[in-house]
Amino acid sequence: TKNIVILISGSGSNMAAIVQAAQQQDWHQAFGASISAVISNRPGAAGLEVAQSLGVATQVLDHRVFETRVAFDAALMQGIDRYQPALVVLAGFMRILTPGFVSHYAGRLINIHPSLLPAFTGLNTHQRAIDAGCAEAGCTVHQVTAELDHGPILAQAAVPVLPDDTADTLAARVLAQEHRLYPQAVRGWLQDQP
Ligand code: GAR
Repeated sequence: TKNIVILISGSGSNMAAIVQAAQQQDWHQAFGASISAVISNRPGAAGLEVAQSLGVATQVLDHRVFETRVAFDAALMQGIDRYQPALVVLAGFMRILTPGFVSHYAGRLINIHPSLLPAFTGLNTHQRAIDAGCAEAGCTVHQVTAELDHGPILAQAAVPVLPDDTADTLAARVLAQEHRLYPQAVRGWLQDQP
């Protein structure tokens, strides 16, 4: 089985979109793939209950109890590797990963970022796109490499920035595209696997 582990920190709406696509499109039958677990670094992440309600096992690994980023990432790797994943999916996972973590999952670690990369790496992407006067904003699915938000791009979706947009209205428009794009990109990744 091609196990998929999804990492979240918050509401987990992208995670839910991927799990629902996997269930509705029967990725087990189609690709021998299974969403094995959802892991959150935040004990209170709303996405944990969403995952449970979708029948996916959850795990919490609170980053605050670890002294260092390296120690947290080592524990996270242990938690993930129980599933021997073919793919690790970052879905609103709001932690910077160490180079050791990234290299351990080289070629099987992907992320979604709420901008049209290479524009607007980092945080507050929607406000920054509005402030810059961009006509378009969007989201990017990319492979994760050591440099934050810089890996090879797998898929992008664009939306218009409207004259009276706030960061919130723009974020909602982009998020709707994320929910379409991310499951499609994971599916594409599975299709390309031997
Ligand atoms: C999404 O918009 C995602 O692109 C973004 O956080 C949100 C998570 O929402 N990710 C980042 O900003 C990564 N730096 P979700 O928890 O409902 O999927």
